[in-house]
Amino acid sequence: MTQVAILGFGVVGSGVADLITKNSKEVFALGGDEINVKYILDLRDFPDSPFGDRVVHDFDVIISDSEVKYVIEVMGGSHPAYEYTLAALRAGKNVITSNKEVVANFGDEFLAAAEAAGVSYRFEAAVGGGIPVISPLISCVRQNKITEVRGILNGTTNYILTKMFSFGDGFAESLADAQARGYAERNPDADILGTDASRKIAILASLVTGKLVPTSHIHTEGITAIRKTDVAAAARVGLAIKLLGRAVVTHGELEIMVAPFMLPEKSPLGGVSGVYNAVEVLGEPISSVMFYGPGAGAGPTASAVVGDLMQIMRSGTATATPTMKKTTEGVKPFSDFVARSYVALTGITESDVRAALGEVEFIFADGECAFITEEMREADVCAALESLTRAGATVLSRIRLL
Ligand code: HSE
Repeated sequence: MTQVAILGFGVVGSGVADLITKNSKEVFALGGDEINVKYILDLRDFPDSPFGDRVVHDFDVIISDSEVKYVIEVMGGSHPAYEYTLAALRAGKNVITSNKEVVANFGDEFLAAAEAAGVSYRFEAAVGGGIPVISPLISCVRQNKITEVRGILNGTTNYILTKMFSFGDGFAESLADAQARGYAERNPDADILGTDASRKIAILASLVTGKLVPTSHIHTEGITAIRKTDVAAAARVGLAIKLLGRAVVTHGELEIMVAPFMLPEKSPLGGVSGVYNAVEVLGEPISSVMFYGPGAGAGPTASAVVGDLMQIMRSGTATATPTMKKTTEGVKPFSDFVARSYVALTGITESDVRAALGEVEFIFADGECAFITEEMREADVCAALESLTRAGATVLSRIRLL
Protein backbone atom coordinates (compact mmCIF):
# COMPACT_ATOMS: atom_id res chain seq x y z
CA MET A 1 0.00 0.00 0.00
CA THR A 2 1.41 3.39 -1.04
CA GLN A 3 0.74 6.08 1.53
CA VAL A 4 0.40 9.68 0.40
CA ALA A 5 -0.16 12.98 2.16
CA ILE A 6 -1.94 15.94 0.61
CA LEU A 7 -0.96 19.43 1.74
CA GLY A 8 -3.99 21.69 1.32
CA PHE A 9 -7.61 20.58 1.04
CA GLY A 10 -8.94 23.24 -1.31
CA VAL A 11 -10.35 22.73 -4.80
CA VAL A 12 -7.29 20.85 -6.10
CA GLY A 13 -6.58 18.89 -2.89
CA SER A 14 -10.11 17.55 -2.70
CA GLY A 15 -10.03 16.80 -6.44
CA VAL A 16 -6.86 14.73 -5.94
CA ALA A 17 -8.32 12.80 -2.97
CA ASP A 18 -11.50 12.12 -4.98
CA LEU A 19 -9.64 10.96 -8.08
CA ILE A 20 -7.35 8.61 -6.15
CA THR A 21 -10.31 7.13 -4.31
CA LYS A 22 -12.94 6.94 -7.05
CA ASN A 23 -10.55 5.59 -9.69
CA SER A 24 -8.69 3.32 -7.30
CA LYS A 25 -8.78 0.34 -9.67
CA GLU A 26 -7.36 2.30 -12.62
CA VAL A 27 -4.84 4.00 -10.33
CA PHE A 28 -3.79 0.58 -9.03
CA ALA A 29 -3.35 -0.70 -12.59
CA LEU A 30 -1.25 2.29 -13.62
CA GLY A 31 0.86 2.74 -10.50
CA GLY A 32 1.21 -0.93 -9.60
CA ASP A 33 0.03 -0.49 -6.03
CA GLU A 34 -2.98 0.59 -4.04
CA ILE A 35 -2.86 4.19 -2.85
CA ASN A 36 -4.11 5.44 0.45
CA VAL A 37 -4.51 9.11 1.33
CA LYS A 38 -3.15 8.83 4.86
CA TYR A 39 -3.05 12.53 5.79
CA ILE A 40 -4.51 15.79 4.61
CA LEU A 41 -2.84 18.87 6.04
CA ASP A 42 -5.06 21.91 6.40
CA LEU A 43 -5.74 24.64 8.94
CA ARG A 44 -9.44 23.79 8.83
CA ASP A 45 -11.42 20.71 9.83
CA PHE A 46 -13.78 19.00 7.41
CA PRO A 47 -16.22 17.03 9.58
CA ASP A 48 -18.64 16.47 6.66
CA SER A 49 -16.04 15.23 4.20
CA PRO A 50 -15.42 11.50 3.69
CA PHE A 51 -11.75 12.41 4.16
CA GLY A 52 -12.42 14.33 7.38
CA ASP A 53 -10.71 11.68 9.53
CA ARG A 54 -7.40 12.10 7.64
CA VAL A 55 -7.09 15.81 8.40
CA VAL A 56 -4.09 16.88 10.48
CA HIS A 57 -2.92 20.36 11.40
CA ASP A 58 0.71 19.62 12.12
CA PHE A 59 3.17 19.04 9.26
CA ASP A 60 5.52 17.18 11.64
CA VAL A 61 3.04 14.28 11.71
CA ILE A 62 3.61 13.83 7.98
CA ILE A 63 7.34 14.44 7.85
CA SER A 64 8.04 12.01 10.69
CA ASP A 65 5.91 9.19 9.23
CA SER A 66 8.31 6.98 7.30
CA GLU A 67 5.39 5.20 5.61
CA VAL A 68 4.54 8.35 3.66
CA LYS A 69 6.69 8.34 0.54
CA TYR A 70 4.66 10.84 -1.51
CA VAL A 71 3.69 14.38 -0.58
CA ILE A 72 1.25 16.24 -2.81
CA GLU A 73 1.62 19.97 -2.24
CA VAL A 74 -1.46 21.79 -3.50
CA MET A 75 -1.66 24.57 -0.94
CA GLY A 76 -0.57 27.43 -3.26
CA GLY A 77 1.59 30.44 -2.38
CA SER A 78 5.29 30.46 -1.58
CA HIS A 79 5.21 29.94 2.18
CA PRO A 80 4.97 27.56 3.92
CA ALA A 81 4.88 25.53 0.67
CA TYR A 82 8.62 26.21 0.21
CA GLU A 83 9.58 25.03 3.71
CA TYR A 84 7.32 21.96 3.58
CA THR A 85 8.54 20.93 0.12
CA LEU A 86 12.21 21.20 1.01
CA ALA A 87 11.70 19.34 4.29
CA ALA A 88 9.78 16.55 2.54
CA LEU A 89 12.41 16.13 -0.19
CA ARG A 90 15.25 16.13 2.34
CA ALA A 91 13.38 13.48 4.31
CA GLY A 92 13.41 11.27 1.19
CA LYS A 93 9.78 11.82 0.15
CA ASN A 94 8.76 12.43 -3.47
CA VAL A 95 6.91 15.71 -3.94
CA ILE A 96 4.28 16.53 -6.56
CA THR A 97 2.80 19.99 -6.90
CA SER A 98 0.33 22.14 -8.85
CA ASN A 99 1.74 25.29 -7.23
CA LYS A 100 3.23 27.43 -10.01
CA GLU A 101 4.32 30.18 -7.64
CA VAL A 102 6.59 27.92 -5.62
CA VAL A 103 7.97 26.19 -8.74
CA ALA A 104 8.74 29.54 -10.43
CA ASN A 105 10.43 30.84 -7.29
CA PHE A 106 12.26 27.75 -6.03
CA GLY A 107 12.06 24.99 -8.66
CA ASP A 108 15.87 24.94 -9.05
CA GLU A 109 16.38 24.32 -5.32
CA PHE A 110 13.72 21.61 -5.20
CA LEU A 111 15.12 19.71 -8.19
CA ALA A 112 18.59 19.80 -6.66
CA ALA A 113 17.26 18.66 -3.28
CA ALA A 114 15.31 15.83 -4.93
CA GLU A 115 18.39 14.66 -6.82
CA ALA A 116 20.49 14.74 -3.65
CA ALA A 117 17.89 12.65 -1.81
CA GLY A 118 17.31 10.23 -4.71
CA VAL A 119 13.62 11.13 -5.04
CA SER A 120 11.47 13.00 -7.59
CA TYR A 121 9.97 16.47 -7.73
CA ARG A 122 7.25 16.83 -10.39
CA PHE A 123 4.99 19.72 -11.36
CA GLU A 124 2.95 18.83 -14.48
CA ALA A 125 -0.13 20.56 -13.01
CA ALA A 126 1.67 23.87 -12.45
CA VAL A 127 1.26 24.99 -16.08
CA GLY A 128 -1.87 24.46 -18.15
CA GLY A 129 -3.78 22.55 -15.43
CA GLY A 130 -4.93 19.32 -17.05
CA ILE A 131 -2.91 19.76 -20.27
CA PRO A 132 0.06 17.42 -20.38
CA VAL A 133 2.70 19.94 -21.45
CA ILE A 134 5.59 19.76 -18.99
CA SER A 135 6.48 16.11 -19.67
CA PRO A 136 6.17 16.38 -23.48
CA LEU A 137 8.28 19.53 -23.42
CA ILE A 138 10.99 17.85 -21.35
CA SER A 139 10.96 14.97 -23.84
CA CYS A 140 10.96 17.01 -27.04
CA VAL A 141 13.71 19.38 -25.90
CA ARG A 142 16.18 16.54 -26.27
CA GLN A 143 15.81 15.90 -29.99
CA ASN A 144 14.66 19.36 -31.10
CA LYS A 145 16.09 22.83 -31.29
CA ILE A 146 13.26 24.75 -29.65
CA THR A 147 13.01 28.33 -30.90
CA GLU A 148 9.94 29.45 -29.00
CA VAL A 149 7.40 28.37 -26.42
CA ARG A 150 4.37 30.62 -26.27
CA GLY A 151 0.93 30.25 -24.90
CA ILE A 152 -2.32 31.33 -23.41
CA LEU A 153 -1.41 30.41 -19.87
CA ASN A 154 -4.21 32.02 -17.89
CA GLY A 155 -7.81 30.96 -18.29
CA THR A 156 -9.33 33.89 -16.40
CA THR A 157 -7.87 36.53 -18.70
CA ASN A 158 -8.69 34.46 -21.78
CA TYR A 159 -12.31 34.30 -20.62
CA ILE A 160 -12.37 38.09 -20.12
CA LEU A 161 -10.84 38.76 -23.55
CA THR A 162 -13.20 36.27 -25.21
CA LYS A 163 -16.16 38.05 -23.59
CA MET A 164 -14.89 41.43 -24.81
CA PHE A 165 -14.56 40.07 -28.36
CA SER A 166 -17.81 38.10 -28.46
CA PHE A 167 -20.14 40.62 -26.84
CA GLY A 168 -18.38 43.96 -27.24
CA ASP A 169 -18.26 44.32 -23.45
CA GLY A 170 -15.66 46.46 -21.69
CA PHE A 171 -12.90 45.12 -19.45
CA ALA A 172 -14.63 46.00 -16.14
CA GLU A 173 -17.94 44.30 -16.96
CA SER A 174 -16.17 41.25 -18.42
CA LEU A 175 -14.11 40.93 -15.24
CA ALA A 176 -17.27 41.24 -13.11
CA ASP A 177 -18.85 38.45 -15.18
CA ALA A 178 -15.75 36.25 -14.72
CA GLN A 179 -15.96 36.84 -10.97
CA ALA A 180 -19.68 36.04 -10.89
CA ARG A 181 -18.94 32.69 -12.63
CA GLY A 182 -16.12 31.87 -10.20
CA TYR A 183 -13.37 32.10 -12.85
CA ALA A 184 -11.79 35.22 -11.39
CA GLU A 185 -11.03 35.62 -7.71
CA ARG A 186 -12.36 38.49 -5.65
CA ASN A 187 -8.84 39.93 -5.81
CA PRO A 188 -8.09 39.19 -9.48
CA ASP A 189 -4.72 40.97 -9.64
CA ALA A 190 -2.50 37.90 -10.14
CA ASP A 191 -4.53 37.01 -13.24
CA ILE A 192 -5.33 40.38 -14.81
CA LEU A 193 -1.90 41.91 -14.18
CA GLY A 194 -0.12 38.94 -15.80
CA THR A 195 1.66 37.68 -12.66
CA ASP A 196 0.20 34.16 -12.89
CA ALA A 197 1.19 33.88 -16.56
CA SER A 198 4.71 35.16 -15.81
CA ARG A 199 5.24 32.32 -13.31
CA LYS A 200 4.07 29.82 -15.91
CA ILE A 201 6.25 31.14 -18.73
CA ALA A 202 9.24 31.17 -16.33
CA ILE A 203 8.64 27.44 -15.75
CA LEU A 204 8.20 26.62 -19.46
CA ALA A 205 11.31 28.62 -20.41
CA SER A 206 13.34 26.82 -17.76
CA LEU A 207 12.51 23.46 -19.35
CA VAL A 208 13.79 24.65 -22.72
CA THR A 209 16.84 26.66 -21.66
CA GLY A 210 17.71 25.37 -18.18
CA LYS A 211 17.46 29.00 -16.99
CA LEU A 212 14.89 29.76 -14.32
CA VAL A 213 14.43 33.49 -14.84
CA PRO A 214 13.16 35.34 -11.73
CA THR A 215 9.70 36.70 -12.48
CA SER A 216 10.93 40.14 -11.40
CA HIS A 217 13.11 40.01 -14.54
CA ILE A 218 10.26 39.08 -16.90
CA HIS A 219 8.60 41.98 -18.71
CA THR A 220 4.98 41.57 -17.59
CA GLU A 221 1.89 43.43 -18.75
CA GLY A 222 -1.69 42.50 -17.98
CA ILE A 223 -4.93 43.15 -19.81
CA THR A 224 -6.39 46.00 -17.74
CA ALA A 225 -5.62 48.69 -20.34
CA ILE A 226 -7.37 46.95 -23.25
CA ARG A 227 -10.37 48.99 -24.39
CA LYS A 228 -13.53 48.17 -26.33
CA THR A 229 -12.18 50.37 -29.15
CA ASP A 230 -9.00 48.26 -29.39
CA VAL A 231 -11.06 45.08 -29.58
CA ALA A 232 -13.27 46.55 -32.33
CA ALA A 233 -10.24 47.78 -34.29
CA ALA A 234 -8.53 44.39 -34.05
CA ALA A 235 -11.68 42.49 -35.05
CA ARG A 236 -12.13 44.72 -38.10
CA VAL A 237 -8.77 43.56 -39.48
CA GLY A 238 -9.23 39.88 -38.51
CA LEU A 239 -7.11 39.94 -35.37
CA ALA A 240 -7.79 38.66 -31.87
CA ILE A 241 -6.11 39.89 -28.68
CA LYS A 242 -4.61 37.25 -26.38
CA LEU A 243 -2.51 37.52 -23.24
CA LEU A 244 0.56 35.51 -24.20
CA GLY A 245 3.55 34.25 -22.30
CA ARG A 246 6.46 34.03 -24.74
CA ALA A 247 9.93 32.57 -24.40
CA VAL A 248 11.87 33.13 -27.60
CA VAL A 249 15.29 31.56 -28.02
CA THR A 250 17.59 33.12 -30.63
CA HIS A 251 21.31 32.44 -30.94
CA GLY A 252 21.38 31.08 -27.40
CA GLU A 253 19.74 34.20 -25.96
CA LEU A 254 16.32 34.26 -24.34
CA GLU A 255 13.58 36.84 -24.70
CA ILE A 256 10.87 36.25 -22.11
CA MET A 257 7.71 38.23 -21.56
CA VAL A 258 4.00 38.31 -20.77
CA ALA A 259 1.87 40.83 -22.63
CA PRO A 260 -1.29 41.12 -24.70
CA PHE A 261 -0.62 40.43 -28.38
CA MET A 262 -2.76 40.87 -31.49
CA LEU A 263 -2.69 37.78 -33.66
CA PRO A 264 -4.79 36.38 -36.51
CA GLU A 265 -8.16 35.18 -35.22
CA LYS A 266 -7.76 32.13 -37.42
CA SER A 267 -4.32 31.14 -36.08
CA PRO A 268 -4.06 28.20 -33.63
CA LEU A 269 -3.66 30.44 -30.56
CA GLY A 270 -6.07 33.08 -31.92
CA GLY A 271 -8.86 30.49 -31.95
CA VAL A 272 -8.48 29.46 -28.29
CA SER A 273 -11.44 30.91 -26.43
CA GLY A 274 -13.03 30.97 -23.00
CA VAL A 275 -11.16 29.61 -20.00
CA TYR A 276 -9.07 27.25 -22.13
CA ASN A 277 -5.28 27.34 -22.21
CA ALA A 278 -2.94 26.44 -25.06
CA VAL A 279 0.82 26.14 -25.40
CA GLU A 280 2.52 26.25 -28.80
CA VAL A 281 6.04 24.91 -29.16
CA LEU A 282 8.08 25.92 -32.21
CA GLY A 283 11.33 24.29 -33.20
CA GLU A 284 13.32 22.17 -35.58
CA PRO A 285 12.55 19.58 -36.75
CA ILE A 286 9.26 19.50 -34.83
CA SER A 287 7.94 22.60 -36.66
CA SER A 288 4.94 23.66 -34.54
CA VAL A 289 2.87 21.65 -32.08
CA MET A 290 0.11 22.91 -29.85
CA PHE A 291 -1.13 21.57 -26.54
CA TYR A 292 -4.69 22.62 -25.74
CA GLY A 293 -7.15 22.01 -22.94
CA PRO A 294 -8.59 23.07 -19.58
CA GLY A 295 -6.02 25.12 -17.70
CA ALA A 296 -7.65 24.96 -14.27
CA GLY A 297 -10.34 23.28 -12.19
CA ALA A 298 -10.40 20.41 -9.71
CA GLY A 299 -10.71 17.51 -12.18
CA PRO A 300 -8.17 18.56 -14.84
CA THR A 301 -5.57 19.67 -12.28
CA ALA A 302 -6.04 16.51 -10.19
CA SER A 303 -5.59 14.49 -13.38
CA ALA A 304 -2.14 16.05 -13.92
CA VAL A 305 -1.16 15.61 -10.25
CA VAL A 306 -2.18 11.95 -10.16
CA GLY A 307 -0.46 11.42 -13.52
CA ASP A 308 2.80 12.59 -11.91
CA LEU A 309 2.20 10.28 -8.96
CA MET A 310 1.68 7.28 -11.28
CA GLN A 311 4.80 8.22 -13.22
CA ILE A 312 6.99 8.24 -10.10
CA MET A 313 5.43 5.02 -8.80
CA ARG A 314 6.20 3.30 -12.10
CA SER A 315 9.60 4.75 -12.98
CA GLY A 316 10.93 6.60 -9.94
CA THR A 317 13.87 8.86 -10.71
CA ALA A 318 14.42 7.12 -14.06
CA THR A 319 11.86 9.51 -15.61
CA ALA A 320 13.38 12.41 -17.57
CA THR A 321 13.95 15.28 -15.16
CA PRO A 322 14.90 18.86 -15.97
CA THR A 323 17.74 20.75 -14.38
CA MET A 324 17.35 24.45 -13.72
CA LYS A 325 19.60 27.28 -12.66
CA LYS A 326 18.20 30.56 -11.43
CA THR A 327 19.83 33.20 -13.61
CA THR A 328 19.32 36.29 -15.74
CA GLU A 329 22.43 35.58 -17.80
CA GLY A 330 21.73 35.51 -21.53
CA VAL A 331 18.29 37.08 -21.05
CA LYS A 332 17.91 39.91 -23.56
CA PRO A 333 16.61 43.26 -22.28
CA PHE A 334 13.01 43.87 -23.30
CA SER A 335 14.04 47.19 -24.88
CA ASP A 336 15.61 45.11 -27.71
CA PHE A 337 12.46 43.13 -28.44
CA VAL A 338 11.30 43.61 -32.04
CA ALA A 339 7.62 43.51 -33.03
CA ARG A 340 4.97 45.35 -35.00
CA SER A 341 2.67 47.45 -32.82
CA TYR A 342 -0.93 48.59 -32.96
CA VAL A 343 -1.14 52.14 -31.60
CA ALA A 344 -4.14 54.41 -30.98
CA LEU A 345 -3.56 58.13 -30.46
CA THR A 346 -5.46 61.39 -30.40
CA GLY A 347 -4.32 64.97 -30.90
CA ILE A 348 -1.95 64.33 -33.79
CA THR A 349 -1.97 64.25 -37.60
CA GLU A 350 -1.19 61.27 -39.77
CA SER A 351 1.86 63.03 -41.20
CA ASP A 352 3.24 63.61 -37.66
CA VAL A 353 2.79 59.88 -37.03
CA ARG A 354 4.70 59.00 -40.22
CA ALA A 355 7.46 61.46 -39.34
CA ALA A 356 7.96 59.79 -35.94
CA LEU A 357 7.36 56.13 -36.79
CA GLY A 358 8.01 55.77 -40.53
CA GLU A 359 5.63 53.77 -42.73
CA VAL A 360 2.53 52.68 -40.83
CA GLU A 361 -0.78 51.11 -41.87
CA PHE A 362 -3.69 53.26 -40.69
CA ILE A 363 -6.79 51.38 -39.55
CA PHE A 364 -10.26 52.65 -38.70
CA ALA A 365 -10.85 53.11 -34.95
CA ASP A 366 -13.82 55.34 -34.14
CA GLY A 367 -12.30 58.75 -34.72
CA GLU A 368 -8.97 57.89 -33.11
CA CYS A 369 -5.71 57.85 -35.05
CA ALA A 370 -5.00 54.11 -35.05
CA PHE A 371 -2.33 52.30 -37.01
CA ILE A 372 0.01 49.34 -37.16
CA THR A 373 3.73 49.98 -37.35
CA GLU A 374 6.40 48.04 -39.21
CA GLU A 375 8.65 45.82 -37.07
CA MET A 376 10.47 48.08 -34.62
CA ARG A 377 12.67 47.72 -31.57
CA GLU A 378 10.79 48.28 -28.32
CA ALA A 379 13.10 51.14 -27.30
CA ASP A 380 12.56 52.90 -30.65
CA VAL A 381 8.75 52.65 -30.44
CA CYS A 382 8.82 54.05 -26.89
CA ALA A 383 11.08 56.94 -27.94
CA ALA A 384 8.84 57.78 -30.93
CA LEU A 385 5.67 57.70 -28.80
CA GLU A 386 7.34 59.92 -26.20
CA SER A 387 8.23 62.45 -28.89
CA LEU A 388 4.63 62.40 -30.20
CA THR A 389 3.39 62.92 -26.65
CA ARG A 390 5.67 65.94 -26.27
CA ALA A 391 4.16 67.26 -29.52
CA GLY A 392 0.66 67.10 -28.01
CA ALA A 393 -0.52 63.55 -28.72
CA THR A 394 -2.22 61.34 -26.17
CA VAL A 395 -1.37 57.64 -26.41
CA LEU A 396 -4.60 55.73 -25.82
CA SER A 397 -3.37 52.23 -26.48
CA ARG A 398 -0.49 50.14 -27.69
CA ILE A 399 -0.58 46.40 -28.28
CA ARG A 400 2.16 44.42 -30.00
CA LEU A 401 1.48 41.99 -32.85
CA LEU A 402 2.63 38.37 -32.87
N1 HSE B 1 -6.04 31.63 -12.06
C1 HSE B 1 -5.47 30.65 -12.95
C2 HSE B 1 -6.10 30.83 -14.35
C3 HSE B 1 -5.74 29.28 -12.40
O1 HSE B 1 -7.06 31.58 -14.49
O2 HSE B 1 -5.60 30.24 -15.30
C4 HSE B 1 -4.92 28.19 -12.98
O3 HSE B 1 -3.54 28.37 -12.78
